[in-house]
Amino acid sequence: MSHFSIKNGALCAEDHPLTHIATEFGTPTYVYSKAAISRNYLSYANACLENGRTSQTALVCYSVKSNSNLAVLHLLSQLGSGFDIVSSGELLRVIAAGGDPKKVIFSGVGKTGDEMRLALSHGIACFNVESISELHRLSEVASEMNATASISLRVNPNVDAKTHPYISTGLKENKFGVAIEDALDIYRIAANLPGISIVGIDCHIGSQLLDDAPLLESLDKLIELIDVLAVEGIVIHHLDIGGGIGIDYEAEVPVTVSDYLNRLFRKIDAWRAEKYQGAPIKVLFEPGRSIVGNAGVLLTRVEYLKPGSEKNFAIVDAAMNDLMRPAMYQAWHGVEPVVLRDGEETIWDIVGPVCESGDWLARARALCIEEGDLLAIRSAGAYGMTMSSNYNTRGRAAEVMVDGNESHLVRQRETPEQLFALEKILP
Ligand SMILES: Cc1ncc(COP(=O)(O)O)c(C=O)c1O
Repeated sequence: MSHFSIKNGALCAEDHPLTHIATEFGTPTYVYSKAAISRNYLSYANACLENGRTSQTALVCYSVKSNSNLAVLHLLSQLGSGFDIVSSGELLRVIAAGGDPKKVIFSGVGKTGDEMRLALSHGIACFNVESISELHRLSEVASEMNATASISLRVNPNVDAKTHPYISTGLKENKFGVAIEDALDIYRIAANLPGISIVGIDCHIGSQLLDDAPLLESLDKLIELIDVLAVEGIVIHHLDIGGGIGIDYEAEVPVTVSDYLNRLFRKIDAWRAEKYQGAPIKVLFEPGRSIVGNAGVLLTRVEYLKPGSEKNFAIVDAAMNDLMRPAMYQAWHGVEPVVLRDGEETIWDIVGPVCESGDWLARARALCIEEGDLLAIRSAGAYGMTMSSNYNTRGRAAEVMVDGNESHLVRQRETPEQLFALEKILP
């Protein structure tokens, strides 16, 4: 769904699939491509296979936070994916979508006792522990339940991911993980805590990485630590390198998944051959954006054109509450009319109806548009719907998944009544 190479007249407005979707389901609507999501997932799974891995020695744990619609989770679980979650809500989504809790890993700096209990009761694969306090809490909770929590320590390798500061997570100044210098001591503590079984090590250094060098540098640091732990008798069974591979929003050229995985597995294989007589270590990935980001668009309609002396505004029916990324990260999203018009282009800021000057979706775009036209905001499949809100009592957008020639509504548009159904006035 991310290519719109329609030339004037090649398709008329009524013929375009997005026009049909807008007519049937209204706007704003997120539209996802089943084929694109599958293709992107398979780029990971196939690279694992090509590097001699099986489902026992490599697992893609899709990062649920990037797009948690049940239809997306169901599709990925059918393809064999595991899941990386950051809340009990995400765990329940995975289960509701038919995902296997035994392929779930639980990341996040603030897991509550209740969330730990729920995850333990479903037998998830691993908790990615992010602090010593969390480790103690997990030990207590698991012991109370007579359960054992499999853990990996999220290590902060202090590597610069060279991405937007808000989506960089692997530096000392970030709140995530434990400092790599402290990891050995924390593993020693974990090894002696009741209810805790050490199974892995993990890191996630940031998102929208275009180059894999920082990821491979992190891998080197994890390898060094695994060797030190082995000397202490602490055996690490899996190595989780996190997510982070970027996508093309504007004209970026991210490393391909296969090039990255080939380089990563080559390093791992050489290390295992040298130090462990070739004994394999299971490798986990936590990709989100690279699987769904370019598999979705946000479909919106131009409500009003408001030319001005300083700027021209195209006011559309989608807003910052639907797609937060521009307001939050100054993120750039491509904007394309669903049907191109003949005529002169004008420079427009694409803005929503929300009462904030920060409510913009794109700035200074040369477009030939009229009121009523449909626009596709591109690359909106990741961190789009999942970051949306009800600000201004705006119902969340509908979501549609395209499967071949068919379009399926996979989430209804919220009604205003649903938004205040849980509220009460004083007696
Ligand atoms: C712990 C963790 N794993 C995986 C991801 C997914 O990252 P990405 O969407 O860049 O692949 C994130 C995203 O922030 C994360 O925080």
